[in-house]
Amino acid sequence: YVIGVDLGTSAVKLLLVNQQGTVVKNVSKNYPLLSEKAGYSEQNPKDWVDQTVAGLYELMQQFEGKPDEIEGISFSGQMHGLVLLDEDQNVLRNAILWNDTRTTKECQEIYEKVGKERLLHFTKNLALEGFTLPKLLWVKNNEPELYSKVKNFLLPKDYVRLKLTNSLHTEYSDAAGTLLLNIAEKEWSQSICDLLDINSDICPPLVESSEEVGTLIPEIIEKTGLPKSTHIFAGGADNACGAIGSGVLTEDKTMVSTGTSGVVLAHEERGDRNFQGKVHYFNHGISNAYYTMGVTLAAGQSLTWFKDAFAKDKTFDQLLNDVDKVSPGANGLLFTPYIDGERTPYFDSTIRGSFIGIDSSHEMKHFVRSIMEGVTFSLNESVQLFREQGKKINQIISIGGGTKNDTWLQMQADIFNAKVVKLSNEQGPGIGAAMLAAYGCKWFKTLKDCAEIFLQKEKTYKPIEENAEVYQDLFKLYQQVYTSTHSVNK
Ligand code: XUL
Repeated sequence: YVIGVDLGTSAVKLLLVNQQGTVVKNVSKNYPLLSEKAGYSEQNPKDWVDQTVAGLYELMQQFEGKPDEIEGISFSGQMHGLVLLDEDQNVLRNAILWNDTRTTKECQEIYEKVGKERLLHFTKNLALEGFTLPKLLWVKNNEPELYSKVKNFLLPKDYVRLKLTNSLHTEYSDAAGTLLLNIAEKEWSQSICDLLDINSDICPPLVESSEEVGTLIPEIIEKTGLPKSTHIFAGGADNACGAIGSGVLTEDKTMVSTGTSGVVLAHEERGDRNFQGKVHYFNHGISNAYYTMGVTLAAGQSLTWFKDAFAKDKTFDQLLNDVDKVSPGANGLLFTPYIDGERTPYFDSTIRGSFIGIDSSHEMKHFVRSIMEGVTFSLNESVQLFREQGKKINQIISIGGGTKNDTWLQMQADIFNAKVVKLSNEQGPGIGAAMLAAYGCKWFKTLKDCAEIFLQKEKTYKPIEENAEVYQDLFKLYQQVYTSTHSVNK
């Protein structure tokens, strides 16, 4: 058996997986999101560790086999979050997360001191509020005393792994999301550090996602019941693990994920292409491969927000219950999901969401359907960008919470105008993490061999022509909302 640990934004999900790729047990443990002010999003790294350890313990309690049948563990993690450690590896402040948008000034500072061309040359990405480097500069500018104590920074899942093993690393797929990595050369960029007066010694050592890194410390063995022999593998960014866990390991494959955030992701063999920052361009969890990606900041988050604000007493299933009774277009109601700003294609953290066209006939079900449509339109902006770069997208593997709803999957096929594949027993990035452990334990020669055994298609949704036509027109309207409202909608 192997264990995949997926350190998400709302919870850590742990999967116990056998050699056939079947999830035999799973546990999920929540932790709070701390938001002191609008635009701030933080978590206490101790919560991640406590809940991961508690989750491992629960998993071991439920496990019916012998403890030493657990061979390996690997990790998937929310990207970009900044964890700062002092010289004794104590956490210096709460982690600043990927969806925190306080760093607009620092993004400007990066463009002024590094220059957009040079930034793109080394990192292949733009300076976005969510990435790690602007957060590091924010702490340097606003909390100088604390910054002077920084010995290392880490990404979220790397901190959890450190606390389980006492060994400190990050790996290329998460390092790529910091804006400090030269992604083609696979090394920290000394030039960027120098231009921004950052001591490059604070960057953690780099390894491959499937590399074995350390062993469990005695305290963790005792607290969880895991065997001493457990092999610990580095793991990857949640989007890299999502790609592995949906079999996106070759250039002909594209994935859409609807979690808290939404992602459209495609495999890339080369690290030296120039997309001018229009899409994110990161190292994959497979050695010497890459992926490009567009991001919708509030995908599932848009529905969570709506439910919390207007339908607290309902479950998600109840909330989505009637959406199939509303036809495409939600009776004239159009939603833009910019409630926390928007990444692709606008890279605008100050824009806010809107419902356009509300009339007195609209009920809860119209609002809910329009949210699902708006989120999918936003994802379609990324699909269209990929198509403009010459990518043929006829089939998309859909993962994440959104795949629980049949209507949403059909809507994706209709809006993307492509076949949408649902995997059976889809487990998101956690299964990608488990696959990295399975490959690391040498159960398979390649990750592709592992994907063939672990991942099975359940259903393919084909576009319904008349819906696709309705959506094509509506998408044009949707695109106008940003340009027509962005001066008043901040
Ligand atoms: C990717 C991003 C999000 C997080 C979510 O750039 O910010 O998808 O990885 O965990």
